Amino acid sequence: MSKMEAKTSLLDNMIGVGDMVLLEPLTEESFINNLKNRFEHGEIYTYIGSVVISLNPYKPLPIYTADKVEEYRNRNFYELSPHIYALADEAYRSLRDQDKDQCILITGESGAGKTEASKLVMSYVAAVCGKGQEVNKVKEQLLQSNPVLEAFGNAKTVRNDNSSRFGKYMDIEFDFKGDPLGGVISNYLLEKSRVVKQPRGERNFHIFYQLLSGASEDTLKTLKLDRDLGKYNYLSLDSASVNGLDDAANFRTVRNAMQIVGFMEDEVQSVLQLVAAILKLGNIEFKPESRVNGFDESRVKDKNDLKEMCELMGIEQAALERAFSFRTVEARTDKVSTTLNVAQAYYARDALAKNLYSRLFSWLVARINESIKAQFKARKKVMGVLDIYGFEIFEDNSFEQFIINYCNEKLQQIFIELTLKEEQEEYVREGIEWTNIEYFNNAIICDLIENNQSGILAMLDEECLRPGTVTDETFLDKLNTICAEHQHFESRLSKNSKFLTDHSLPHSCFRIQHYAGKVLYRVEGFVDKNNDLLYRDLSQAMYKANHSLMKLLFPEGNPIKVNLKRPPTAGFQFRASVGTLMKNLLTKNPNYIRCIKPNDKKASHIFTDSLVCHQVRYLGLMENVRVRRAGYAFRQAYEPCLERYKMLCKQTWPHWRGPAREGVEVLLNDLQIPQEEFSYGRSKIFIRNPRTLFTLEEKRARCLEDLATLIQKIYRGWKQRTLFLLMKRSQIVVAAWYRRYAQQKKYQQIKSSTIVVQSFIRGWKARMILRELKYQKRCKEAVTTIAAYWHGTQARRELRRLKEEARRKHAVAVIWAYWLGLKVRREYRKFFRANAGKKIYKFTIQRIMQKYFLELKKTMPSMSPIDKSWPPRQYLFLEGTHTELRRIFHLWRCKKYREQFTEQKKAIYEEKLEASEIFKDKKALYPSSVGQPFRGDYLEIKMNPKYQKLNTLVDEKVIIADVVNKINRANGKGAARIFLLTKSSLMLADLKTGQLKASVPLADVSGVSVSSQTDGFFALRLKEGSASAAKGDFLLSSERLIEIITKLHRTKAGCEDREQINVDILDEFLVQFKQHKVCVKFLQGGPKNGNSVTCKRKNNRLLEVSVPSP
Ligand SMILES: Nc1ncnc2c1ncn2[C@@H]1O[C@H](COP(=O)(O)OP(=O)(O)O)[C@@H](O)[C@H]1O
Ligand SMILES: [Mg+2]
Repeated sequence: MSKMEAKTSLLDNMIGVGDMVLLEPLTEESFINNLKNRFEHGEIYTYIGSVVISLNPYKPLPIYTADKVEEYRNRNFYELSPHIYALADEAYRSLRDQDKDQCILITGESGAGKTEASKLVMSYVAAVCGKGQEVNKVKEQLLQSNPVLEAFGNAKTVRNDNSSRFGKYMDIEFDFKGDPLGGVISNYLLEKSRVVKQPRGERNFHIFYQLLSGASEDTLKTLKLDRDLGKYNYLSLDSASVNGLDDAANFRTVRNAMQIVGFMEDEVQSVLQLVAAILKLGNIEFKPESRVNGFDESRVKDKNDLKEMCELMGIEQAALERAFSFRTVEARTDKVSTTLNVAQAYYARDALAKNLYSRLFSWLVARINESIKAQFKARKKVMGVLDIYGFEIFEDNSFEQFIINYCNEKLQQIFIELTLKEEQEEYVREGIEWTNIEYFNNAIICDLIENNQSGILAMLDEECLRPGTVTDETFLDKLNTICAEHQHFESRLSKNSKFLTDHSLPHSCFRIQHYAGKVLYRVEGFVDKNNDLLYRDLSQAMYKANHSLMKLLFPEGNPIKVNLKRPPTAGFQFRASVGTLMKNLLTKNPNYIRCIKPNDKKASHIFTDSLVCHQVRYLGLMENVRVRRAGYAFRQAYEPCLERYKMLCKQTWPHWRGPAREGVEVLLNDLQIPQEEFSYGRSKIFIRNPRTLFTLEEKRARCLEDLATLIQKIYRGWKQRTLFLLMKRSQIVVAAWYRRYAQQKKYQQIKSSTIVVQSFIRGWKARMILRELKYQKRCKEAVTTIAAYWHGTQARRELRRLKEEARRKHAVAVIWAYWLGLKVRREYRKFFRANAGKKIYKFTIQRIMQKYFLELKKTMPSMSPIDKSWPPRQYLFLEGTHTELRRIFHLWRCKKYREQFTEQKKAIYEEKLEASEIFKDKKALYPSSVGQPFRGDYLEIKMNPKYQKLNTLVDEKVIIADVVNKINRANGKGAARIFLLTKSSLMLADLKTGQLKASVPLADVSGVSVSSQTDGFFALRLKEGSASAAKGDFLLSSERLIEIITKLHRTKAGCEDREQINVDILDEFLVQFKQHKVCVKFLQGGPKNGNSVTCKRKNNRLLEVSVPSP
């Protein structure tokens, strides 16, 4: 809880007083006025300590919103203005946090708002407790049980359009976290007489009307019902429709709620069938039928409704019909059947209807309980909500009112027990001096009613069970005798003659002084209602029904379980259940909601003082306040008290360091409150007089104003100061920044100006220097120039002088030379004439020679030996020299030419030279051979594998290897032969085989003969007498004759003997053929021979060779 929240209180913004304990002066009038004042301002809740008084506003108020729920959630009870939520929150939190089971007791008369209050409490708890899928389902089921129970248990009465006609107590179970687990509903005494009869202006239970107006046509058809309400005897017609109540819509709500709670569809149908059956039952009418014995016997008048009802329930029609006509009384041993007259038949019918309905209702509660019961067996915390009918005083009060008022009497007991006693115990607990306050304890009235021996209920039971004639009158007599002495019992016929003359007390009545007022009860019907008799024949007929729910509702109809014991009476049952309820409530922490009805007209703005006054009285509210104030009107724990009032004293304001109690003591002493006005408890301060509290409150309010002003002042001061400081800081920052900026600007300006000035000065200085330098340079240049010019001038002068001098010298020399020349010429003229001719000639010759050689040098021919050109001679006298020079030059260039030859080339040229020496101008074949190179070895014998054999024979270098024709000496025809020449010999071999034919040592060759013509014939002449010569000379022919002969010649010359071979060039020569010589004659051939050489043997001695002419 924050400090701020602590400041709000019940005492703030209060209309009247929120807590009646603080009422001053405390009178009934001021009490009512306070309620009225608050009621008129829409404040329907007022506290008496922790009890909530609730006035029915009869209009929707905007104080039940989700926001309100949040507002009251987790707040202390007195913190906010009075509200039912504050109570619900307190209860829920002490359940959750302090593990205390709670009960919420809602009392008040019919229409005071009890049921609404219980719903508000439940919805608040549902809103603040845990969330989650499972939890929400439980919540929903708990909340949805309400519409179902209201449909079946509520009805419109004159006091309340939605009056609960049963007492309801619901235990909501929570786990340790405060999440709801489930619930248990207990119901008390349904006003079942309403099923068959309703007072004027009232209705039957809602469900009948809802079913008829809300069910679909189909449903109605299957239930054999008609929508017309007027057709049913049990429904009162004068108030069939209620303002603001939509039966059809509510029917849908109820069906939906039943589904949510967990009713099966067939269960819903069964329930509706029973409701329909009750309506049908009401329509069954009887007529008398005279019997022989003179008694009237009842008969069903119109069997249609009976039939339909039996069809609906699966009941045997005859059995039911019989049950309406006869009654079987079973004694211990025998059965006696008596007939029923019409009145008895109607009684039986109504009894059946009432029982059927009340049992159905109890079954519904049980069925709902089954659905909403907690699933887990865990330890539970319980919050019980009791919404029970309030105290009722009618003009005509019967058994029901008696029972109801007894119940309220018991509740008052609890209230006294728990509240007043608790109050007093608190003083003891707190150690406050306390003298017991007297208050009216209604235990005596409870005793009057419930005492086991002499109590009214006990006597009623006794009367019901007594054999013999029992009537309501005998019961009253009994009361008159036994209770006559009781202070709270009044009866005209009692022994006590006190009331003998009291005409307000009829003879058939008795009166009880309840704690809430006197109530007159008419004894009529007490016995019957207590007996709650249902003829066994009827219950048996019901049990036989072919309808499972119906069977279930009438277990006593089971013939096997015939129980002759009477069932417990209604009074006994009620007493027992109230007893259990009370026990149950006593174990719990009670929370009270006292509901008050402001007017009788269900109007939202009427506050009827007398009516309220009456309720205030019988609810004992004044006593409640008095007890609370008897000792001390107000109490509060020290801490919150100090927190609330500490501003009233300097020592405690703003902080008290020390125990709160001492703080409060200091505070109260400082305020000079009289000692007797307060007491210090152990944990609380108790204030006796409300006025004291109000004084405190007033002072507090004033002080708060001052404080507010102070706080305001300080706050404003602080705020302004803060603002100022902020502004100051900001200003400094701004100024600093601005200054910085300005200085920067200025600096930059100065800097740039400086740079400008600097640059100007530097420029100026530089220019000065430049100028100086330039000046110096110019000076230097000028000096140089001047010097140069000066030097130039000087040099020129010198030059001129030197030139002049030279010229002079030259002139002198020339003149001298001329002079000398003249002198010499004069002197040597005579010598000149004698020698000059010779000398000039010599000189001229020399000159010409010089010219000639220089000229020759320029026109020299080429270095080629064959170049025949030679420059012409210019001077005749040099003819000899010229020719000689030509010859020398030629020799020289030939020598040069030769010098560049290799040995090989030299040999070739030597060979060629030799050939020319031998054949030039001698043989016509020669010129054609000049261009041919002499290759020698044409056949390349060494390389050719064909001549391998031949090669082996030749062990020297082959000089010539060529193919020649060997001329047959017999016919002149040629045969091809290989001609081989080596250094030492020459050989002839077969061309094809390489077979050597002839080998002749060179030494044996003496000469060669050839013609002068173009043919290739040659004869090898052998030395006479040599071994080779035996066969004679060889006559051969070859195109390469020149080469062969030349080589032969050279080889022979190179031999050891150095014999020259003779080459004879003759057109006619002799060849030695064996013994004789043959002449070979060469002729210039005629044209008939063509171009070829032919050779013919003319005769023994002549061989003619014709050679084509060139
Ligand atoms: N807190 C409330 N706010 C608005 N209307 C209320 C309130 N309490 C009761 N009423 C009205 O009063 C009628 C009767 O209240 P109800 O709780 O049924 O009375 P009770 O149960 O005491 O007989 C309700 O139908 C409703 O119209
Ligand atoms: Mg009610």
